[in-house]
Formats: sequence, C-alpha cells, structure tokens
Amino acid sequence: MNSVGLGNPGIDNFITEIKEIKKFKFPLIVSVFGNTVESYIKVALQAEQAGADAVEINISCPHAEVASIGIDKNLTYSIVESMKKEIKVPLFVKLNPNVTNLGEIALAAQKGGADAVVAINSLAAMKVDIRTKRPILSHGSGGLSGKAIHPIAVKMVYDLYKILEIPIIGCGGASNWQDIIEFILVGASAVQVGTALHQGFDIITDIIKGLKNFLLDNNYSSINELKGLAHEFKTQEVPDFD
Ligand SMILES: Cc1cc2nc3c(=O)[nH]c(=O)nc-3n(C[C@H](O)[C@H](O)[C@H](O)COP(=O)(O)O)c2cc1C
Repeated sequence: MNSVGLGNPGIDNFITEIKEIKKFKFPLIVSVFGNTVESYIKVALQAEQAGADAVEINISCPHAEVASIGIDKNLTYSIVESMKKEIKVPLFVKLNPNVTNLGEIALAAQKGGADAVVAINSLAAMKVDIRTKRPILSHGSGGLSGKAIHPIAVKMVYDLYKILEIPIIGCGGASNWQDIIEFILVGASAVQVGTALHQGFDIITDIIKGLKNFLLDNNYSSINELKGLAHEFKTQEVPDFD
C-alpha cells in the first residue's frame, strides 16, 4: 500500500531526466497529471517537447484529487478530447479501478480520442494500527498494488477487451513473465511493471528471457499471436437436471 499522493519534482525539473532517458533507443512514455485541464495540457506539451514518444494521463490515483476525473465518464471524455486537440504524440489514459462501471469510463476515453487505456491504477485500501487505533498511512487511506491486485487487473483487462477498439496496456501486480503472458491472453497489447521493481531491475531481464523462451517453446513468432486468446474460452454451461 502506498500514499505517495503524486509527489514529484515537477515537470520543469523532470525535463532534464526525460532528455537523459531519450539517449537510449527505447520509446519513452511520460505519465502526467494536473489540477486543471489547462495544467494537464501544459505539462503534457512540455513532456512532448522534451521528447516523450507518448503521454499517459493519470486520472486515477485513488488518494489524490485526480481520482475524481477517472470516476466520471463526462469529465474523462472532456479532458481526453481537450488534450487530443493539443498534443501530437499518442495519448494513453490510466484508468481508476475504484468505480462501479469501468467499461463506461474506458468507452468515454475512447470516444474522446484516447489512443490506448492503461488498466489499472492501484485499488483504494486502508490499514489501521490496532495499538494506536489510527490509520497507518498519513493520508488515512492509500492504494493497494502488487501481486494481490493481479487477478483483479486481469479480470478488468478481460472485460475491457470485449468492448474497446483501442489497445489496452495491462497494469497491476505483474512480477514475472507468466503474469505478462496472462495479461496478453486476456487482451493487453503491452504491460506495465510497477511494484515488482522493488525486487530490482534484474526482473526485467528475467521477464524478457522468460517471454522469449515461452514463445520459442510454443512455436509462436510474436507475442501478438497470444493476444486475446483467453476469450476463446466458453463458460461451462449449467447442466439441466430436469
Ligand atoms: C509507490 C507507488 C507510486 C505510484 N505513483 C503513481 C503515479 O504517480 N501515477 C500513476 O498513475 N500511478 C502510480 N502508481 C500506480 C502504479 O503505476 C500502478 O498502476 C499500480 O501500482 C499497479 O501496478 P503494480 O502492481 O505493477 O505496481 C504508483 C504505485 C506505487 C506503488
């Protein structure tokens, strides 16, 4: 559980880091947020100008104000639509899982012109210290991430794949190559790894090696061949006892 609350050095300071990372050859996705539509656009434009290949907007942190956008389909549509008019690089929308109907928010993002959705952000959660009888996190509550939320994230990506036309980036508890394959099978086009990086960056090397071996062992030439295959599963019919 964390309650970082989106604390960060700010885009002006981060630009140096973006330029540094751009020296490597892989694509760079910069995740941004703001407190008004204008500030979202301003930060996204600065990230784009500094070299971001895509921008992810966070409308979903469960313990920050931006969560209120990600629980409302009209606000989601309007921020995405406004941003798409201003930025040229692809725009990804990071979804808030703490809603009753994630599908309608994702569809609003798609209608607004999002190029992909990222599912999911952390789940609202709380821990209370039984001795002090107070919540442990200074914010009161926080966001649960890591292995515990992986099956929930898998189900959400599975459900979104049925209704969306734009790609889904799976996120939530992925910590090994098997978790990545699972996300791809339910329909993800790419996967983010967050909490598991606490184990060290070597897990990325292990994941890439594991994915390559899995494809070779099963005669796949690309991971795309696995995308959405779990949807071929048919729910077992309830037997008729009459
Ligand atoms: C310490 C920490 C900080 C995070 N900060 C952000 C953030 O600034 N913006 C955001 O969109 N998500 C943030 N998240 C959520 C993660 O990006 C991710 O959606 C979530 O943790 C689930 O993935 P994971 O289990 O792989 O970490 C943060 C998560 C953690 C653990």
